[in-house]
Amino acid sequence: MRARKNGKLPPPFPKGWIPICESDSLKKSKVLEVNAFGCNLVAWRGTSGQSYVSDGYCPHLGAHLGVGSSVSGECIKCPFHGWCYDGSQNGKLVHIPYAEDVPSNVSTKMWKSQEKYGLIFVWYPQNEEPSWNLEEIPEIDRDNWSFRGRIVFDTLCHIQDIPENLADVPHLNEVHTDLSTISGDVRKSWIQRSHIRHIHTGEWSPSKKCDENHKAFMTMQHKIEIFQRFHCGYATMKAVHIGPALMLLYMSTPTGKFVIIQGLVPSRELRTRSILRIYAEPRMLQCFVKQLMDGIHNNALRDRVIMNRKSFTDKPFLVKEDKYIKMFRRWYAQFYGETTSNDNE
Ligand code: FES
Ligand SMILES: [Fe+2]
Repeated sequence: MRARKNGKLPPPFPKGWIPICESDSLKKSKVLEVNAFGCNLVAWRGTSGQSYVSDGYCPHLGAHLGVGSSVSGECIKCPFHGWCYDGSQNGKLVHIPYAEDVPSNVSTKMWKSQEKYGLIFVWYPQNEEPSWNLEEIPEIDRDNWSFRGRIVFDTLCHIQDIPENLADVPHLNEVHTDLSTISGDVRKSWIQRSHIRHIHTGEWSPSKKCDENHKAFMTMQHKIEIFQRFHCGYATMKAVHIGPALMLLYMSTPTGKFVIIQGLVPSRELRTRSILRIYAEPRMLQCFVKQLMDGIHNNALRDRVIMNRKSFTDKPFLVKEDKYIKMFRRWYAQFYGETTSNDNE
């Protein structure tokens, strides 16, 4: 088999608040091994409930802190010789079970982290200060929209390919026209050939507020077309990009309103995990949420078939109808800088 042609890729990992795992995968006093940015990291949750993230390897003799270790208070205890690092003191070494003196200049290297929307985020690159905050989502925090389910899958592509797909409006009427509940097959089914299909129109734009450069917006209208004549309105979507690795997709359908929180974990170069967490308004029945989730999953699988094998074209041939791709790339370029190469190994 011929090797995949990757194309001229951007730097492997963009800068910003990047989700690395879901909050509920890290229980109190537990440890989690995490792969992100091509690095081994470790996350733990202290008895206070606070979560911490550090480099995965113990500064003593290099044991992996995510394997066989334990948590005591806010500290993670290395499984090899029992050295203890305190998350609440920026990873400082606070105890060695067999030594009289504990050197004061040793610590495990911490990542700035925070939990929002059921995800644990770290700021990448590790040595930089965050330049924006993750805000609350009023629908979840104030209006009691509740968590209804998740979809998680890996795609063998650069992280940029996935948010770029939102700005790629023309692909919607090629890849996502088939009835989404039928299958995740990117080929057209007999139903579509029988003239029932989804039709989309959309617009994409970066935020115009100077303190919100890290945000961009997409709106999409969606309807069902029958025999190329009859149309019924179906759904509208308002999507917000928040930095390079988070999208909030607000959907309004005849059966209710919901929001998909899509976090992208760049596990390593050309491998991106998508975590979709769905929150719906209280009146929306779970059977409709389930039906929509099946449709969303199928649509994601259709994109994934293409993403898994595509090459990254840094100078694509675009027609005027592709204008949002150009705008997206200009906007997304802000997340690459000299320090966004993989310098954490
Ligand atoms: S390697 Fe971690 S305590 Fe020795
Ligand atoms: Fe798509």
